[in-house]
Amino acid sequence: MCGIIAYIGARDALPILLEGLKRLEYRGYDSAGVATLDAGGLNVARTVGRVHDLVPKVSDGSRFSGTLGIAHTRWATHGGVTEDNAHPQRSDQSEGGVVTIVHNGIIENHATIKKWLEGKGHEFRSETDTEVLAHLIGEFYEGDLEQAVQAALKEVTGAYAIAAISAREPDCLVVARKGSPLIVGIGSDEFVVASDSSAIVAHTRQAFSLDDYTVARITPGDIRTTTLENVVVTPQVQELEFDLGQIELGGYDHYMIKEIFEQPEALRRCTQGRLDLRDGRIVLGGISEFVRELSTASRFVFVGQGTALHACMVGKYLLEKIANIPATVEFASEFRYRNPIVEPGTVVVAISQSGETADTLAALEEAKQKGGLTLGLVNVVGSSIARKTDAGIYLRVGPEIGVASTKAFLGQVLVSVMLAGFVGRCRFFSQEQLKSLMLALDSLPEKVERILSQSEEIREATARYIDRENWLFLGRGINYPVALEGALKLKEISYIHAEGMPAAEMKHGPIALIDQGMPTVFVATRNSQYRKVLSNIEEVRSRGGHVIAVATEGDTEIESLCQEVFWVPDVNEALQPILTSVPLQLLAYHAAVMRGKDVDKPRNLAKSVTVE
Ligand code: M6R
Repeated sequence: MCGIIAYIGARDALPILLEGLKRLEYRGYDSAGVATLDAGGLNVARTVGRVHDLVPKVSDGSRFSGTLGIAHTRWATHGGVTEDNAHPQRSDQSEGGVVTIVHNGIIENHATIKKWLEGKGHEFRSETDTEVLAHLIGEFYEGDLEQAVQAALKEVTGAYAIAAISAREPDCLVVARKGSPLIVGIGSDEFVVASDSSAIVAHTRQAFSLDDYTVARITPGDIRTTTLENVVVTPQVQELEFDLGQIELGGYDHYMIKEIFEQPEALRRCTQGRLDLRDGRIVLGGISEFVRELSTASRFVFVGQGTALHACMVGKYLLEKIANIPATVEFASEFRYRNPIVEPGTVVVAISQSGETADTLAALEEAKQKGGLTLGLVNVVGSSIARKTDAGIYLRVGPEIGVASTKAFLGQVLVSVMLAGFVGRCRFFSQEQLKSLMLALDSLPEKVERILSQSEEIREATARYIDRENWLFLGRGINYPVALEGALKLKEISYIHAEGMPAAEMKHGPIALIDQGMPTVFVATRNSQYRKVLSNIEEVRSRGGHVIAVATEGDTEIESLCQEVFWVPDVNEALQPILTSVPLQLLAYHAAVMRGKDVDKPRNLAKSVTVE
């Protein structure tokens, strides 16, 4: 949700900022803006729309020279998508402005602060909480930007990652964070600060993640990090493990399809070194310290949002089936606000690609406060959730740029299987059972490759239904979350209305919708629920519905019942979501492309939802 970047050093800031903004654009793309400082003072440009819309406004290179600058790409929270509401925001509108900032997050008490500032004569031009923060810093500014930022941030509640500059201190950049991510990259006599490492790695690999409630005052050759009370803190600098190639399109039209096709490799990376087939062990260093607590746990609670929530639903099923431990799933956003019961022995598992989803993070904090053991199944290394949990397992699927989550879902389910196998083995799961599960896990990448080879057939089948405005996705048992995921993928990138539900639920109302105009997708692989799903397919057929099935290779029975079949190889039931979700990702992708939608940046969405 919003991307921010700042540069200070010896080079021209503008190209670094623009390049960084392009990499951060997946975080929000309602508007973009930049401010640079040079001997002539401050220059600001803002635009509604994408980063490429900003470029013409700054192409007068002489005006936007300067070796210090800040920039922003916005996902609107407070105030409409207008140029006035775009960042950077200034503390006053005078030429140069006293303080200029970019901000990611929400200042919750902005209304109260605004009233107070208005009483002191401040006038506001935008509807944003960010402008209120800029004015507040300006109000405290007496020639020392660091001090003014510290003073202002003591007054605010909410979440922020900010970068601030002042024309009165042309060699100084001040950044701060609470709740929204901010990484400080350290180059030689230069610093690049950004919402994530993708905007930093091209310049340096030495970096640290700023802690909550800390402020960094940066000059070209120096950095000082303090708390809001001005106590100096020493950050832990680490090497960023990031391959730039991973975030390039590399010949694909969209990140989403690139990431779908990367899935076999992502699965291999995820299991690498973790499946000890010889000794029949799953090796998970990130949770090994907690074997006792995990194997004697009375209950697991999975929390997440969106696609990650669907992975949580699969995780619940796996924990119960493989580890024989009661498990529940909760929307993180609901869990955090309803006084949830977390008794001793409760393990709370947060699943998140970004590791920054505000609701998931808050649910985790709630669980921690109540004494639960917290685990994070997270993709982004060093992210807030990864840092706040007691233990965790990284997904290792590589950066996911497309807003629609694909390879992260497979990683989330795969890691949940390994977690369940790991815990199960400490309980009732035999070594033989675990070995057979591990062999099945090992076979997954090749099976996903077989599904991907049908992409063209799936595209052709999708084309036959591309004019339909309403779709149903149905599944049972472990494939019910896959039905939800199939519906979410379709709606979020093609804007086609789709609903997912348990196949048996259809008879309780939604069956009234069935007619020829409504394609019904069944996840109908061979497993313990197969016969039941066949009966549900018959119910749709007998009402004239069009059935598209995801089915097990060689299933001639289902072929005779359905208009279209997408085939997946046979696999242990516990692993089926890893295969059955792939044809539905392809269906959604092809539908969105055929409808001419912006696949990687669907309207109104952002990759990482860092506000509640
Ligand atoms: O980063 P997270 O996994 O925590 O994100 C959770 C959801 O916001 C995310 O999965 C979202 O639903 C995706 N757009 C789905 O494709």
